[in-house]
Amino acid sequence: MSNKIIIAIDGTSSTGKSTLAKRLAKRLNYLYIDSGAMYRALTFYAIKKNYISKSHFEKNRLIQDLPNILIDFQYNKKNSKYEVHLNNFSVEKHIRSLKVSDLVSQIATIDEFRKEMVKVQHLLGANKGVVMDGRDIGTVVFPNAELKFYLDASLNLRVKRRYKELIDLNHEISLDDVFNNISLRDNQDINRINSPLKKASDSIVIHTDNFTLDELEEKLFSYVTPLILKN
Ligand code: DC
Repeated sequence: MSNKIIIAIDGTSSTGKSTLAKRLAKRLNYLYIDSGAMYRALTFYAIKKNYISKSHFEKNRLIQDLPNILIDFQYNKKNSKYEVHLNNFSVEKHIRSLKVSDLVSQIATIDEFRKEMVKVQHLLGANKGVVMDGRDIGTVVFPNAELKFYLDASLNLRVKRRYKELIDLNHEISLDDVFNNISLRDNQDINRINSPLKKASDSIVIHTDNFTLDELEEKLFSYVTPLILKN
């Protein structure tokens, strides 16, 4: 009998979701899936095809092109990580830029795109043993997930964290750019009609401001143990 579960982690941008999801997945030997990377990969494609920019969005052309777009995760032996692939090429290195970040929430509002991403996410979770982070994982993608977390943190802290991450990745960026991007994305993610970011009624809400990552990992893990023993 499988005792594997699905762990859904949702929340606003830069609350520590992906870092904690990775840590839990590693500890449990589960698959970690960054669902935001899928929307970012699609946005990267749309930018390359010139379907979207700050001043235009040819939504219908991108919808028509969907059959030609394959987004999935493939294992990279060199770093032992699953990386998001666009038509069989790893795009991990390209999807964290501010250009993609500034447009991704717009792409993520469109139902046609979300349906395609959710199909892939369902396949990835079919055998359980998955930690998936995003905005709608506990509400729409896996409403029956055994464990759901909703992470939150103050805007100032999230901006500082994201700025540091991007500087560490050698992006040329200012604190103001990051502030504007995160505020814009929060607003679009929370207020969109399709699968908006919201707390699932059965999620465990965690404010991450005053804890270290180690403390948060232990906190989240303390909810996992009884469930994997029970299942
Ligand atoms: O997790 P992230 O910041 O990399 O996600 C990028 C964007 O993708 C985010 O602003 C909203 C969208 N997204 C979404 O709509 N649904 C998800 N499950 C994950 C991300």
